[in-house]
Amino acid sequence: MQTPVAGFSRFTKAEKIDWVAKNYTDNSEETKALLASYWNTDTKLQQLHDEFIENTLSNYYLPFSVAPNFLINNRLYTVPMVIEESSVVAAASKAAKFWLERGGFKATILGTEKVGQVHFMYHGEPSKLKSFFKDNKSVFFEEAKSITRSMKKRGGGITSIELRDLTHKLDGYYQLHCTFETLDAMGANFINSCLEQFAKTLEALTSGSSIFSKEKDAIEIVMSILSNYVPNCVVRAEVSCPITAQGDSSSVSKKFAEKLMQAVTIAKTEPYRAVTHNKGVMNGIDAVILATGNDFRAVEAGVHAYASKDGSYSSLTHAEIEEETFRFWIDVPLALGTVGGLTSLHPMVKIALEILQKPTAKELMQVVAVAGLAQNFAALRSLVTTGIQKGHMKMHLMNILNQLGADKTEKTTLINYFKDKTVSNASVKEALEDMRN
Ligand code: MEV
Repeated sequence: MQTPVAGFSRFTKAEKIDWVAKNYTDNSEETKALLASYWNTDTKLQQLHDEFIENTLSNYYLPFSVAPNFLINNRLYTVPMVIEESSVVAAASKAAKFWLERGGFKATILGTEKVGQVHFMYHGEPSKLKSFFKDNKSVFFEEAKSITRSMKKRGGGITSIELRDLTHKLDGYYQLHCTFETLDAMGANFINSCLEQFAKTLEALTSGSSIFSKEKDAIEIVMSILSNYVPNCVVRAEVSCPITAQGDSSSVSKKFAEKLMQAVTIAKTEPYRAVTHNKGVMNGIDAVILATGNDFRAVEAGVHAYASKDGSYSSLTHAEIEEETFRFWIDVPLALGTVGGLTSLHPMVKIALEILQKPTAKELMQVVAVAGLAQNFAALRSLVTTGIQKGHMKMHLMNILNQLGADKTEKTTLINYFKDKTVSNASVKEALEDMRN
């Protein structure tokens, strides 16, 4: 029976490890040795990682990989990807190569607007609040000047502050719905600081005003926070090529284009399929987001909300056949940064951004959207032709061999052996046993 721990956050790292190992693992010495084996030998670097979050015990590795040959807006990129799932990087590389031969990807920024809200309650006369806000709107901008000065100098800042009456949804509920331009920063700190200042301004202005003197007219701030739903911070990535009867190195076949369209149409129509379809898109998106030190939870939340914007959960990608041309595209909301946050702190993130030729946030949005589109294309291409298991299990073979403890020679022999055979856990186990006997 475990007992609660007091003051855990104040324990030293060694004490935390001791406590966890003793209380929750079967062999505490082995646990401690394992955790220590994942520390970086460079103590300064380890400390940097320890201090990213709280109660750090060790590091958790994910592979850092690259997919080359992405031609995006006529510029060649090698795209860094951090992901644990085998075959994602291979699929991205394959799709990149496929479209390299057919003119590459085109990516366009459709908007960069970020959003934040001050949520508050007010039970007085709505018209009083509305005219008060109109008369005092400039004060909000004025009082946030110390926060916005440097962002403004670079061309960004607060782009709008709007009073929204949402009492039809919730009794007494209003918000300041605010929009921002945060340039190359994801902007969470900037936006939240502005919003907290707006809340202070709103409180100070209204509590000091005779208009809101009666108790029922008082404004109660509930919270101030950015929104991860950014339907106007959107990038479009697309590919297109001619359709020919058989398909060749510069076109796709009619049959293939039609099947791909059917697959997309099914994902548009049917949420069970749409979720998996979009999961494939996110394989590409998340991998680049992680490699570049961006917040994949924020992106995931925003993307899935966007996929439901028309009332039911639907495909993020679209396809059409028009005048013998096949076109495949994605519109995806991505609030990303290439400065601030982890981008200048995490050495691997710095390398990832360098590999991407030090992109602006807009360029990174384009690369990430392309990675999502490429991943979806690769998945659909397999699904409507060979099925995904053949390719996936080939890539997964190494994991199975590692799980079974195969040595170097066994791995080489069995990888060769399975070139023309079906990979499954059982078939690999059997082949390894045969080989050992
Ligand atoms: C697997 O990670 C992703 C897929 O399931 C996506 C899809 O079905 O489109 C292959």
